[in-house]
Amino acid sequence: MSNLLHLASLGALALSPMAAAAPSTHTNFKQCVQLQVPVPVVATNYHYTMMPQVDSNIDAIDWTVNVTTWSSKPAKDRISGPVPVDRTFSISAQLCVPSETGDKAEILQIATPGLGFDKRYWDAEIKPEEYSYVDAAVKKGYSILTYDRLGTGKSDKPDAYDIVQIPTEVEVLAGLTRLARSGELISSSKVLSTAGGKTTIPDFKASKIVQVGHSFGSFLITSMLTLYGDLADGAILTAFLINTQLGKIDVLHYDHEFARQHDPVRFGEYPSGYFVLNTESCIQKLFFRKGAFEPKMLTYAEKIKQPETVGEYASEGPPSPAPEFKGPIHFFNGEFDNFVCLGDCRDTYLEEETRNMYPGASDIYPYLQPNTGHALTLATNASAGYEVMLQYLDSQGL
Ligand SMILES: *[C@@H]1O[C@H](CO)[C@@H](O)[C@H](O)[C@H]1NC(C)=O
Ligand SMILES: *[C@@H]1O[C@H](CO)[C@@H](O)[C@H](O)[C@H]1NC(C)=O
Repeated sequence: MSNLLHLASLGALALSPMAAAAPSTHTNFKQCVQLQVPVPVVATNYHYTMMPQVDSNIDAIDWTVNVTTWSSKPAKDRISGPVPVDRTFSISAQLCVPSETGDKAEILQIATPGLGFDKRYWDAEIKPEEYSYVDAAVKKGYSILTYDRLGTGKSDKPDAYDIVQIPTEVEVLAGLTRLARSGELISSSKVLSTAGGKTTIPDFKASKIVQVGHSFGSFLITSMLTLYGDLADGAILTAFLINTQLGKIDVLHYDHEFARQHDPVRFGEYPSGYFVLNTESCIQKLFFRKGAFEPKMLTYAEKIKQPETVGEYASEGPPSPAPEFKGPIHFFNGEFDNFVCLGDCRDTYLEEETRNMYPGASDIYPYLQPNTGHALTLATNASAGYEVMLQYLDSQGL
């Protein structure tokens, strides 16, 4: 039946004179459009001195050792001065809306991937009916914007030391959120298409915003809510939990290679200071739990992996409180997340510390997804997890 419907809609598209000009992909339940969004950013980054440059695989390991050596100065003590950033970045984004508009279609989820991934983390091309969070959200009636963080995918890849840092990435997310709220997301973007630049999605204005993050993406969201508590009506922070084991896995636990040397074909355009996880085994260690993933999804993670920057690591610090955020917040974590909880998230959650971080939140709901590691969207039980996340939003009136 659904195959028939699908064929029928393809037939309708083929007959439509608009079809050739329509860059949006149209399946029977969703319409998506690929955008290149110019996002103006004003932020203050920092320049870090005595930070090794990474221009080779040997440099990448030297950086690892350097920043984890006990006698080395922590990054915050290597700051030599501010780096004012005032420029417009080109950000690759995908907007998907439900084909049949219901009362949730004006609620926009904005999903931010973590380190090592671009927007495909939320929208796996393998068995999307099981793994794509985008599809799960749209099937429940939400609209969803996914994007490539600065320095990944089809977004700009500026200087890895002074530019691709947390303050700038926070402002990219804030900028995208404001565009979606004001209804200028599509009109201000380049709509990627083969002809005409037309889209079948009329300009889209979000009445409510839910920020969804994975790991470092969740960290960017909470950092944004510290500055602008009103840029979310709700938040789902996945692979991010304030817990007794947080921060125990440092970069000495995994190995990077210089992106361009690691794979000149995939990463040829990446300059100095961008590195990638070196092997599939390393990705397994950080992101997957045996028995709870299909091996082809590990291979897929390796295939879609993305570079990270020296500046992203240098600018990391403990999260700050976000007292102005008034919505509900859901912490959705793999039970056996190696990266977040040193392998076991049970009995590690710090409830009072979390409440103190978000004193204005209308509700706080931590949940451990059984038998799952750090890459929640690539685990076998991913879709049951999406039910938990999406039902939570619904229960909070979102
Ligand atoms: C770390 O690297 C910087 C810059 O190359 C260097 O000055 C410093 O001595 C290194 N620290 C250690 C512990 O090797
Ligand atoms: C799959 O996830 C759901 C939702 O969290 C959970 O109730 C169920 O027990 C999980 N199944 C397995 C086999 O872990």
